[in-house]
Amino acid sequence: MSKITITAALPYANGPVHIGHLAGVYIPADIYARFTRLLGKEVLFICGSDEHGVPITLRAKKEGVTPQDVVDRYNKIIGDSFRDLGISFDIYSRTSNKTHHDLAQDFFKNLYNKKAFREISSEQYYDEQAQQFLADRYITGTCPKCSNENAYGDQCEKCGSTLSPSELINPKSALSGSIPVLKETKNWYLPLDEIQKDFLNDYINNNTHWKSNVSGQCKSWLNDGLRERAMTRDLDWGIPVPVEGADGKVLYVWFEAPIGYISATKELRPDDWEQWWTGDTRLVHFIGKDNIVFHCIIFPAMLHLRGDGYVVPTDVPANEFLNLEGQKISTSRNWAVWLNEYLVDLPNKQDELRYVLTSIAPETKDSEFTWKDYQTRVNSELVGIYGNFANRVLVLMNKFYNGAIPAKTHNFNTTELCNTYIAPIAKLISEYKFRDAQFGLMELARFGNKYLAEQEPWKLIKTDEAAAASVLQFASEILLNLAVLSEVFLPNTSQNLLNQLNIQISEDEKRAFWEGTKWLDIPANHNIGEVSLLFQKIEDDVIEMQMNKLQQSLVDNLASAAPVAPSKTDVTQVAEPKAEIQYDDFAKLDLRVAKVLTCEKVEKADKLLKLTLEVGTETRTVVSGIALHFTPEEVIGKSVLYLANLAPRKMRGIESQGMILMAENSDGKLYFMQPSANIDSGSGVS
Ligand code: 2FM
Ligand code: ZN
Repeated sequence: MSKITITAALPYANGPVHIGHLAGVYIPADIYARFTRLLGKEVLFICGSDEHGVPITLRAKKEGVTPQDVVDRYNKIIGDSFRDLGISFDIYSRTSNKTHHDLAQDFFKNLYNKKAFREISSEQYYDEQAQQFLADRYITGTCPKCSNENAYGDQCEKCGSTLSPSELINPKSALSGSIPVLKETKNWYLPLDEIQKDFLNDYINNNTHWKSNVSGQCKSWLNDGLRERAMTRDLDWGIPVPVEGADGKVLYVWFEAPIGYISATKELRPDDWEQWWTGDTRLVHFIGKDNIVFHCIIFPAMLHLRGDGYVVPTDVPANEFLNLEGQKISTSRNWAVWLNEYLVDLPNKQDELRYVLTSIAPETKDSEFTWKDYQTRVNSELVGIYGNFANRVLVLMNKFYNGAIPAKTHNFNTTELCNTYIAPIAKLISEYKFRDAQFGLMELARFGNKYLAEQEPWKLIKTDEAAAASVLQFASEILLNLAVLSEVFLPNTSQNLLNQLNIQISEDEKRAFWEGTKWLDIPANHNIGEVSLLFQKIEDDVIEMQMNKLQQSLVDNLASAAPVAPSKTDVTQVAEPKAEIQYDDFAKLDLRVAKVLTCEKVEKADKLLKLTLEVGTETRTVVSGIALHFTPEEVIGKSVLYLANLAPRKMRGIESQGMILMAENSDGKLYFMQPSANIDSGSGVS
């Protein structure tokens, strides 16, 4: 039987994981791993922390700790939170361990000995103050194409041009702010131009079953023609390059991170790890869209060059991105729902999060998480349909039959039930359509609910006892099949429901069930277990607390003058360019001149001031995160720029009606935006 090696992108150990990672990568991967295991396949589900790369060294510098301290901390936070969410990795490893260092070096040497690399000397920017070569992202300067002063060494985010650091006008180091100098250095490059001709063109074109977003992206790169790419870097944190003349150089993080999947396999299965990477093995990588080039082009090229029977990825079901409350998720702006915090703030609500994130998974295009939608989906679908059905069946079973399920008398066609409710879900999962598959799960719950509502066994019992028994028996069968079907999507709920039904299903039965050939039944007079509610309603105050937390992030961003640790897309404090909008988007903003009438500190909130504004004939209360920058006395009497139609938000129990707009310079200092003459408050700004 063929093996399936399933990997989920190794998260960088420089911060916790958030709901975007979960919806795009880890939950779909977990559903797939659980499903393939239940089908009786030989499966390994591999993950771990990606512990090298520049963002980690920068965070360490900022915090005054070592990179190892940073990765130790986040490896634990991330690993624990995955476990608590029920992500069923067979191993959660890390790329700073010895097995990985050895294997990555071995892999590099193997390709080096095959003369697979081009050795190229080039001039690279060097920061003399920080005493290190600068990765492209850590050089900023003026874009030669559009004059944007904040372009990065690899890309201008304003005009979208791809750049190289040498093209930047007035380059500056993002590490120290100093002007970098050019210094010659030698590195080893993968000749992707050649590999494209020899292998990648055919590889990508032959994978006709790949998702269109993935193969479309790859084909467009191939059409443009691939270029050689450096696989080593001049850095001090990473895996040393194991060849002569490579002092002070480490393996490029994107060369060694995917090898992390192999080393984690070796750590888990020291005796047969190679069998999971060679021969009759399907290799499936779950990733987000920003990782496509590494998993569909570079890693396959490396595996192909390695030879020795290594397989190349069979499938790479990459997803798009999840947005949060109308904005891109941003690590540096703390605009995210962090998994470790969710697990504390909403205890025992793992399956609720899994359910909602699968319902909105960004499978074909970017999608959106809002707390209101989370509340609605949990309350009306999980509580209202699934939980309600389960509880009605079990409570009625106790009430009418003392908890003993009556003998089966219904004559529903169970083959048809399998064909309608089970087999299509299995097919959808095997095609990586998890969102539709989970919708199918709810269809079975809806069917059960409707059946009960139509048959009304609570009334039937008074007129036709046998008919009522038949209805409730069949309803409990639906419930059992629903419980087993839930195992891949909602593992805790599945187990809870099976406990309440007091039923255990064997591996063989589960396999037949998932093959779509077995509708599960219940022996006569089977006694159910203790009954309890599967899901609880999410109350408004829980949602409000989460919204306030996000609002606080906005306030903190505005108030904080401390430099933010750069993430891979966020390197300086200068405002990032934003995506283009239409005039209609802008016209929605009700911008006004307002005058500050009163201003005072907010109790127990260092950063907040409460202001009363005069806006024409009206007064408004606004809470603003500027207390670290201004005293109340400095603010009273000022004319300010005011966004009047921002939805009101509560902060520290005070309703803030709108927002004062400020300018922020690159040091994080704040300035009021004021009219050039004394004009009436309430005047519009357009
Ligand atoms: O984008 C990321 O978070 C990377 N750390 C993913 C690495 S996946 C694999 F190659 F290890
Ligand atoms: Zn530009």
